[in-house]
Amino acid sequence: MARKAYISAVGHYVPDKVLTNFDLEKMVDTNDEWIRTRTGISERRILEPGRATSDMSAEAVKKLCENRGIDPMEIELIIVATVTPDMFFPSTGNLVQEKVGAKNAWSFDVAAACSGFLYALSVGTQYIESGKHDKVVVIGSDKMSSIVNYRDRNTCVLFGDAAGAVLLEPTEKEDDGILDSMLFSDGSGADYLLMKAGGSLNPASLETIANDWHFIYQDGKSVFKFAVTKMAEVAVDILEKNGFTGEDLKLFVPHQANLRIIDGAVKRLKIDYDKVMININKYGNTTAATIPLALSEAYEQGKLDTGDLVVFATFGGGFTWGSTLLRWSIPKPTK
Ligand code: UT7
Repeated sequence: MARKAYISAVGHYVPDKVLTNFDLEKMVDTNDEWIRTRTGISERRILEPGRATSDMSAEAVKKLCENRGIDPMEIELIIVATVTPDMFFPSTGNLVQEKVGAKNAWSFDVAAACSGFLYALSVGTQYIESGKHDKVVVIGSDKMSSIVNYRDRNTCVLFGDAAGAVLLEPTEKEDDGILDSMLFSDGSGADYLLMKAGGSLNPASLETIANDWHFIYQDGKSVFKFAVTKMAEVAVDILEKNGFTGEDLKLFVPHQANLRIIDGAVKRLKIDYDKVMININKYGNTTAATIPLALSEAYEQGKLDTGDLVVFATFGGGFTWGSTLLRWSIPKPTK
């Protein structure tokens, strides 16, 4: 019997502070109507200064441990997907390990922009399937407000801060847990969505600061074109590859970057909207956090039950894109 990984608990954290479209109207030349119709976003959360990606991640992990009824000392590996690490090093995973008291865990970060969580999930899955570990925590967490230019209307309306986490454990059950994943990269897309400075190519200098190179740059139209094709394609492909169709699907959990991109994937999958988890209206694009945050909320809202077929799909800077297929293993919450 093959050993597989399943998601045994979820947890998430969003900051209290809400930044609405109306707040943004006072900061840049934009309006609520434009933002809602072009993106589907009404508001997003902003973490206060002095707190960072590791703090949100730690809150999500504490919630996850509470949900599973485990002590953090039982965690063996922590993987954090993020583009906004607290600092270059030590890794955010290490900081989370300390903050939650997971003294027995080793930890590291994965960088794949918005696809980071699915990349990290596939790495965590390997450590379970190989028999190396029994409890792996995978986190998607980003404090996007730390790299957003609130003078640039092209990007500042899109992003928000949040963290989501899942616990992976082994199962011997056939047709349960993580069934498949498909992941892709295309480095020719690097120039369309990036933060130019702060790395080894353009270390911080007066010039990089003057040029706003420590903020996100995005060519929205090019990313949109790429995303709308690739996210739909990979979601359809993973179902087909495993002998399923949209009809078999119970919940589609897409990366929340733009409601119009989600619409494109929903049409290609030929599924109804009641099978799609959408919370972009409340949180905007939280980069690596969108999928674990949406998953955790879907679970809390009773949208998932044991045996449900679920697809995650994503795309992001790099370019990167991918999909995960799984059978949900946690019973509906009782309350
Ligand atoms: O997870 C990361 C991956 N990133 C994404 O998924 C983003 C993908 N791209 C998008 O979601 C969309 O391209 C955007 C939402 C970023 C932009 O929407 P769009 O429909 O592609 O608009 P656009 O960039 O073509 O701009 C249309 C117009 C322009 O004005 P003109 O040139 O037609 O006069 C923009 O200057 O809208 C203007 N505009 C705005 N107006 C009001 C751009 N941003 C804003 C704004 N408020 N915030």
